Amino acid sequence: STPSLLILPGDGIGPEVMAEVVKIIDWYGEKRDLKFDVTMDLVGGAAYDKHGVPLADETMAKAQEVDAVLLGAVGGPKYDVLDFSVKPERGLLRLRKEMDLFANLRPAQCFDALADFSSLKKDVVAGLDIMIVRELTSGIYFGEPRGIITEGNERVGINTQRYTESEIRRVAIAAFELAMKRGKKLCSMEKANVMESGILWREVVEEVAKDYPEVAVSHMYADNGAMQLVRAPKQFDVIVTDNLFGDILSDCAAMLTGSLGMLPSASLGAPMENGRPKAMYEPVHGSAPDIAGQGKANPIACILSFAMALRYSFDQGDEATRLETAIEKVLADGVRTGDLLADEGVTPVSTSGMGDAIIAALDAS
Ligand code: NAI
Ligand code: MG
Repeated sequence: STPSLLILPGDGIGPEVMAEVVKIIDWYGEKRDLKFDVTMDLVGGAAYDKHGVPLADETMAKAQEVDAVLLGAVGGPKYDVLDFSVKPERGLLRLRKEMDLFANLRPAQCFDALADFSSLKKDVVAGLDIMIVRELTSGIYFGEPRGIITEGNERVGINTQRYTESEIRRVAIAAFELAMKRGKKLCSMEKANVMESGILWREVVEEVAKDYPEVAVSHMYADNGAMQLVRAPKQFDVIVTDNLFGDILSDCAAMLTGSLGMLPSASLGAPMENGRPKAMYEPVHGSAPDIAGQGKANPIACILSFAMALRYSFDQGDEATRLETAIEKVLADGVRTGDLLADEGVTPVSTSGMGDAIIAALDAS
């Protein structure tokens, strides 16, 4: 049956960058006979304006039903005054929570043409293509007990790192499945030297590894992992780690490759009946109110999020590579949105100009 997609453009530059993704989806339908059953709907401030809530129940139900959700961005100054219960972010949080998206995928991919943008030496990052899988729904951000208590005559701040083996197992399985679709190499990061949850994490990853004999598994203490990510990031393919370490390591890895306008992400949940994981794909960036409505936004982060959907939800790895190669070519040709401009001499293209250039490169592929 035709794969289904729910598209939620959201607010600010969300609809602008998503319009370019829609062009690309149409291209796949026309030129590659790869068709999607697309539903468009509202999220965030846009949903609040229409329904008084940042995510309508019908939209939530649809998200549970489709093969993948593609989201632009939510939020903006207009909504900053709203009560917390109806803030745009709550739409996003509801999707993540009710779909139980426990595995957050953050690739760090370096396009050669942009290697100069990295804060690292060009040869350290050129051709970099790694994926960090961060556990997203448990760990120290959620563990009980938590709070600030008084002990004797001083206050104590408490958070608890707590992982059940099933929580570790499901994110480990998601990471191994990804590794099978990539370079078959997985590095698990924790601090088993000082943390009980780290010892259990390592044990459970080893257990899951038995089901994936083709994947080369290694373990690394997360602090060393941070060092290695900056020293020699190309040694990694897939990295799996907990919520706290993943928060830090994925931000660190993201900056190996440059602009926020280039960074895609995905969040995966449990496999559905058809074997595909519940999934939501979105750029890392927000609604960028400072440039919204001006046609300046870089659509590549959102387009790369769709490429991830092709690869990880729809088993279209070759088509995902086709799209990434088209982007690579456009960048190599010097086409740049404003956020990617290093020198003054180059005139930036608009959001739709970038989308059109990518379509032209697809046509030539
Ligand atoms: P932001 O990511 O929206 O913008 C940060 C800076 O990067 C801005 O200068 C912006 O112009 C630039 N930028 C971001 N994406 C770009 C793109 N595709 N092309 C070119 N330049 C780009 O983060 P900020 O400013 O902290 O937040 C703005 C709003 O977005 C807030 O309401 C925030 O709550 C929301 N937000 C939403 C997220 C989401 O929907 N997942 C994530 C982060 C923030
Ligand atoms: Mg962070």
